[in-house]
Amino acid sequence: MLPRWSRKHHHHEDSVHPAVPFNRAPIVGREIELITEALQSRHLAADGVHSRWCQNWICERLSVPNALLTTSCTKALELAAMLCDIGPGDEVIMPSFTFVSTANAVVMQGGTPVFVDMRPDTLNIDEALVEDAITPRTKAIFVVHYAGVCADMDAINAIARHHGLVVVEDAAQAILSTYKGRPAGALADMGCFSFHETKNIVSGEGGAIALSPKVPYLKARVIAEKGTNRTAFMLGQVDKYTWVDKGSSLLPSEITAAFLQAQLEQAEAIIADRMATWSFYHSALAEAEKAGLLRRPIVPVECTHNAHIYYVLLPSQQLRNDVIADMKARNVSATFHYIPLHSSPAGKKLTRTHGAMTNTDTLPDRLVRLPLWYGMGTAAELAVEALLEALRAKVGA
Ligand SMILES: Cc1ncc(COP(=O)(O)O)c(C=O)c1O
Repeated sequence: MLPRWSRKHHHHEDSVHPAVPFNRAPIVGREIELITEALQSRHLAADGVHSRWCQNWICERLSVPNALLTTSCTKALELAAMLCDIGPGDEVIMPSFTFVSTANAVVMQGGTPVFVDMRPDTLNIDEALVEDAITPRTKAIFVVHYAGVCADMDAINAIARHHGLVVVEDAAQAILSTYKGRPAGALADMGCFSFHETKNIVSGEGGAIALSPKVPYLKARVIAEKGTNRTAFMLGQVDKYTWVDKGSSLLPSEITAAFLQAQLEQAEAIIADRMATWSFYHSALAEAEKAGLLRRPIVPVECTHNAHIYYVLLPSQQLRNDVIADMKARNVSATFHYIPLHSSPAGKKLTRTHGAMTNTDTLPDRLVRLPLWYGMGTAAELAVEALLEALRAKVGA
């Protein structure tokens, strides 16, 4: 059962209960202690003991040979696009229902995102539509694991293998999710994670990239270290450290890594707490689904997820908008999610779609995300009440 919501009540005459925010960043224990350690060590730039600890954690948990922390998932995706050698005219197949960074990473290299429609059950890229979108210019497939539920990676990897394409997972939301027992982020050539404060595991801003054995580690390090061979120099492989290729500055400071270490130490506890809330929502809304008032998330049997998002699909966009407003009036913050990129101003200029976008054009308009954060406890009961009352008020159910 859900633990009691411990937030102090600030009573307002006119509010029924304290506001339930949509998100509240987790603080789980040793953040200050480990940041203090970093300060005392006087190693504040990248690549100290805390960065190494976090990178080892990723390598161990994901069974990948190499990982790099980055300053955001956006930067991890940009690094991935550079490692794919995407250049002007190259195409990358991806879903349109994603954050701008998935597409921007390709656009920043001069490439063109090519969107295909989503599956109606998971809202992930429809793997059955990918092969038909391949052209001689296709370089890669970027998949997104929406809500921490993995896309059908076996199907996508098989297509990629057949056509010689690279596959990148945008696993921004999917840390410690699995697909057929294997960890998200280690299901393809590269996996990109976000530790932005809205994610399960956070460091304020932050990210990481997990690299499969196929990806040259030193090449990734060159890009992440301003186009220099500093890593080869540190490893004693070259005697001078110099500019060798294109690159940027992608590694976070030890202060960020120390914070992240404290969070990764508690990763299981954070996810278990979120899962209790997710499961509470899922059973509390079963009846509403039976009554046809909403559709709950669908998790394929081959996937375990990390309770990143709890969303429902309502029967129409109008109802969705009304319900969000009504919940707000009931002091509960619920929200919509991505506006599909192909319909955005930049999307219209810089991308193209392949085939009909029927699901992408309709399902996101009906989506509401419920508040979900570490330590939420019984505040989830208030969110369910607000949702059901809002629905009753609108549809008279
Ligand atoms: C699917 C997806 N990709 C990428 C990002 C970008 O992450 P970051 O804020 O760490 O750059 C997000 C963040 O919301 C996301 O949801």
